[in-house]
Amino acid sequence: MKSHLDTEKIHNPIVLTGLMGTGKSALGKMLAESLGLPFYDSDHVIEQRAGITINEIFELYGEPKFRETETKTILELLEGGPCVIATGGGALTNAPVLDAVKEKALSIWLKTDIPTLLKRLEQSKTRPLLKHDNPQAVLEDLLAKRGPLYEQMSIHVETHPTDIRQTMANLQDALEHHLIDETP
Ligand code: S3P
Repeated sequence: MKSHLDTEKIHNPIVLTGLMGTGKSALGKMLAESLGLPFYDSDHVIEQRAGITINEIFELYGEPKFRETETKTILELLEGGPCVIATGGGALTNAPVLDAVKEKALSIWLKTDIPTLLKRLEQSKTRPLLKHDNPQAVLEDLLAKRGPLYEQMSIHVETHPTDIRQTMANLQDALEHHLIDETP
């Protein structure tokens, strides 16, 4: 889906945030393609550099070590000029990441309701935080804790439960309006 957005108005990285399963990676890739910008998925960058999966990082070194690596990786990606970055769902819990995203990026929160997330994540084996017998309670708890962080993003986009192209259109519209409002 080619974008009719004026890419010359984009001077900063575009950062996608939101709970796991909201579609940050899939939409980020589509958005980057439509804008002709490079795309980075911070979890993939971390896995490539570490040579092991996120699951293995959690198992071998624990969540605090993952958060440290995640912080370094995202801060570095934010220095690379215009691009699209899909972050992990917990990225904003790292205070330096929250501050840098607010300061340096065009920030987006992808909002998806918990029942939709549960359906999408039912089969996921790649999310260490969901290795739990009550994933619904986990997601509700994460949303309660992280909602106030996601709220601080400049653009909020409701995702469509089943139609990614519709969500992509909503995302492009929201971005366009934001860029128009920001242009002096
Ligand atoms: C996490 C989300 C994951 C990944 C890690 C922790 C979280 O990314 O970074 O498993 O804390 O919500 P996705 O949001 O891409 O699943």
